[in-house]
Amino acid sequence: MDRKQIIEDPETGNKAEAFEAFDDIPSNPRLSGSIGDVIASRYGRREMLTGLLGVSASAALFGASALAAPRPAGAANAARESRYAFNELAWGNDETHHVAEGYEAEILLRWGDPVVADAPEFDVMNQSAEAQLQQFGYNNDYTGFLPLNADGSRGLLCVNHEYTNEEMMFPGLGRQDKAEFAGMTKELADIEMAAHGGTVAEIIRGADGKWAVVLNSPMNRRITPLTTAMTLDGPAAGHARLQTSEDPSGTRVLGTLNNCAGGMTPWGTWLMAEENFHGYFWTDKLDADGKPDLSDQPEAAQMKRYGAPGLWYAWGKFHGRFNIDKEPNELNRFGWVVEVDPRDPAAMPVKHTALGRFRHEGAETTTSKEGRLVVYMGDDARFEYQYKYVSAGTVSKDPAANSKLLSDGTLYVARFDEGGTVHWLPLVHGTGPLTAENGFASQADVLIDARLAADALGATPMDRPEDAQPRGDGTAYIMLTNNTRRGASQLDAANPRAKSAFGHIIEIKEDGGDHAATKGTWSILVKCGDPQIAGVGAEWNPETSENGWFASPDNCAFDADGRLWVATDQGSKWGKTGKSDGLYGVETEGVLRGHSKLFFRCPAGGELCGPVFTPDGETLFLAVQHPGTDGTKALKGFERASTFEDPATRWPDFDPNMPPRPSVVAVTRKGGGKIAI
Ligand code: FEO
Ligand code: CA
Ligand code: CA
Repeated sequence: MDRKQIIEDPETGNKAEAFEAFDDIPSNPRLSGSIGDVIASRYGRREMLTGLLGVSASAALFGASALAAPRPAGAANAARESRYAFNELAWGNDETHHVAEGYEAEILLRWGDPVVADAPEFDVMNQSAEAQLQQFGYNNDYTGFLPLNADGSRGLLCVNHEYTNEEMMFPGLGRQDKAEFAGMTKELADIEMAAHGGTVAEIIRGADGKWAVVLNSPMNRRITPLTTAMTLDGPAAGHARLQTSEDPSGTRVLGTLNNCAGGMTPWGTWLMAEENFHGYFWTDKLDADGKPDLSDQPEAAQMKRYGAPGLWYAWGKFHGRFNIDKEPNELNRFGWVVEVDPRDPAAMPVKHTALGRFRHEGAETTTSKEGRLVVYMGDDARFEYQYKYVSAGTVSKDPAANSKLLSDGTLYVARFDEGGTVHWLPLVHGTGPLTAENGFASQADVLIDARLAADALGATPMDRPEDAQPRGDGTAYIMLTNNTRRGASQLDAANPRAKSAFGHIIEIKEDGGDHAATKGTWSILVKCGDPQIAGVGAEWNPETSENGWFASPDNCAFDADGRLWVATDQGSKWGKTGKSDGLYGVETEGVLRGHSKLFFRCPAGGELCGPVFTPDGETLFLAVQHPGTDGTKALKGFERASTFEDPATRWPDFDPNMPPRPSVVAVTRKGGGKIAI
């Protein structure tokens, strides 16, 4: 289907669904993986697809520990006890959130809530960009917590606002992609821009254990694509391809957008990943099929490889810099990782080109044995790659010195080999195929066109790499959310299911337990989906209950005790499982490895993001994104697409005059204490 057909498809209930479906058209030219051919010839394609592959062959491919082998009878009970001590929540889908028994989930910040001193109260029927610039933005995704005192009862919450849904935000507007954006005005586009970006909010835990925003904190701040000036640094900064008429220096950019997951650095700065930046760029030149006509564009090949321009927002009609006909290089100034110092509202955010340009999902950090900074980053699109960055220098106690660590280092992309080895291939100009003869004139080209450089290096096209979370022991977990476009001829050991609707999680163990290693081993922790349906090919620890299995892992986090928690985003397809998106505790060690328990679930149509624990393990912040929006045709009793006037839920206010609002939730244990201990 082309863009127009996807927009008009009656099964596509809202713009987010259309965006998702359109994104299903991959841009990676390397779609017949050689690994898949090796496996297929060795084991037979039919066996791979139908799950008939024997245990020994599967073990060779996936690692013995990834298999759901039955436990020997009589194994010690203690060894089987879940490390996640809570009574599992029942699965389901309805108009509100649910948390495990004995816990409270309180709404901390909602779209429109005032965040800076003197911000106006939210008036949903009279929105303005000026007000929105002082209020909590839309679609909260990544959530980071920076403690400001020794016991962590005061801290800064750093929240990404990924995107906006106009049909849910504005009265009477409806889906604008279906109406060729006829209802969009500069005023509405500016409100959308003001609702993107990020929020820094100081929060404090009261004597009653409840968290509240410190409204007059001087550190509270909104970051947006409308108003926040940023610098570019690293090897591509200043390059001709980053220069525009507004910025001939190629070092200054206005704003950040589509900030999905992210990370915090060891020195307390916040990394905002720019994900689907292509969707914000516009062109007036369309071909007969309604697709962008790039015939006049010198960088047409690069634009196509990044799926740009996506034409999902009309900003380019009102702000020429988002129209590639006028300002093609503006496109090259997005798709980076942005570093923000949340403690200093006057500090200008920095886009670090050393970390490469792609659809950055997250940027979770750790340190190597030598003390180098290591950042794990996914490129979230079908058949895209997993990356990591290793700094040249080591982390110092001096925060000012650390700011250079994201400017000078090596970007690597992962090749997952059949035998369970992962190789990290350096994206370094002049090495291997990354030469001028192949279109990379300098390191700037390698970084701006990181996808093309990774293609040339032979990285493994993955099933949509979302968040990746490293643990200090040289282990990292990679969330691969799904890839329904992977065909039978495109299977490989690390992406073993065709038309994978439910995703899987890969565990990497770097050689020597060192995150800076250029080689490691990998295995599949779980293959998601319903284990009771044979055709799904799910693999969980057999002790996993009907509540515990999930689909489409997206964000993840470790708690204070090193346990893995996984949040899901099934998008518009949640009707396939009937389960709301939620948060699950997933065992990574011992006989219960691959066991999962449901702790929290979202209201219908929402995705769960931003799990982050306070260092004492007593509070868990969760971000409920786009409640009432995705796939609401599957919601029993509602069975239609949501709009501002007619939403599937009005969570969390349940006020007949208020649409659903994306919100951050603070989860604590009733009576206090660590979560799930
Ligand atoms: Fe914004 Fe890949 O989720
Ligand atoms: Ca995500
Ligand atoms: Ca994470």
